[in-house]
Amino acid sequence: MQKDTIRRRKMAGYLVEDQRKVTTHRLVQMKAEGKKIAMLTSYDYTTASITDAAGIDVILVGDSASNVMAGNWTTLPITLDQMIYHAKSVVRGVKRALVVCDMPFGSYQVNETEAVTNAIRIMKETHCDALKLEGGVEIIPAVKKILDAGIPICGHLGLTPQAINKFGTYTVRAKEEAEAQKLISDAHALEEAGCFAIVLEKIPAKLARQVAQELTIPIIGIGAGNGCDGQVLVISDMLGMTRGFSPKFLRRYADLNTIMTDAIGHYVEDVKEGTFPNEKEQY
Ligand code: KIV
Repeated sequence: MQKDTIRRRKMAGYLVEDQRKVTTHRLVQMKAEGKKIAMLTSYDYTTASITDAAGIDVILVGDSASNVMAGNWTTLPITLDQMIYHAKSVVRGVKRALVVCDMPFGSYQVNETEAVTNAIRIMKETHCDALKLEGGVEIIPAVKKILDAGIPICGHLGLTPQAINKFGTYTVRAKEEAEAQKLISDAHALEEAGCFAIVLEKIPAKLARQVAQELTIPIIGIGAGNGCDGQVLVISDMLGMTRGFSPKFLRRYADLNTIMTDAIGHYVEDVKEGTFPNEKEQY
């Protein structure tokens, strides 16, 4: 990182000098102290190392790997083995950030015993720090069983992508009063069960702010406005690697698609013209 960038970031207060490993306890403290939490997804070692070194607080090994890594339309097809592979790779690249791994569709909905068995397997094999599960009161028995095994859980409410076939649309959730009320009581139920944080996806900003004010655990938003205690984005979207996905909430911090296409095109040209490798690039 350039010296100037480091100085600017230190002044803005978001370059982390505290290099201690982030814990779930620390995230709850951050909320109490009014400090915002920055979270991004990663699915591989190299990206996770860069993301961690840049000062992110939480890395989510999201089941969005199903979309961005494997090219599926939904998160449903990704398997437990595949999530374990991604999480293991991420953990190897991370020194400071808290690493949270998504439990994939089908791995925790059948019953509590299966849920805790799969949760323990993820923790044992990946060495990640916590798990994320989608859903409200209906998953509380599984959440409790996993928490009883000593595994921290982050909830996920609102537009929960594993339920996309039930919703039938990716539009904003909880605009109607009944759904908003259910979301509020689900959030309380997850907090009371012992979750350390909740992700709220694509819901009205006013509702997300209300939930963040009512709960003591951090609320991490994606498309849920500025009243949340932190924000999460899918890394390939915020870096501008993906095309054709432009929801209102997505801010692109780079245009890696163009940078990569130009670089690869340049390489192809050099190889075809015989200018790569040159004399200094050979033995
Ligand atoms: O899988 C994922 O990337 C997620 C985020 C969208 C929160 O769950």
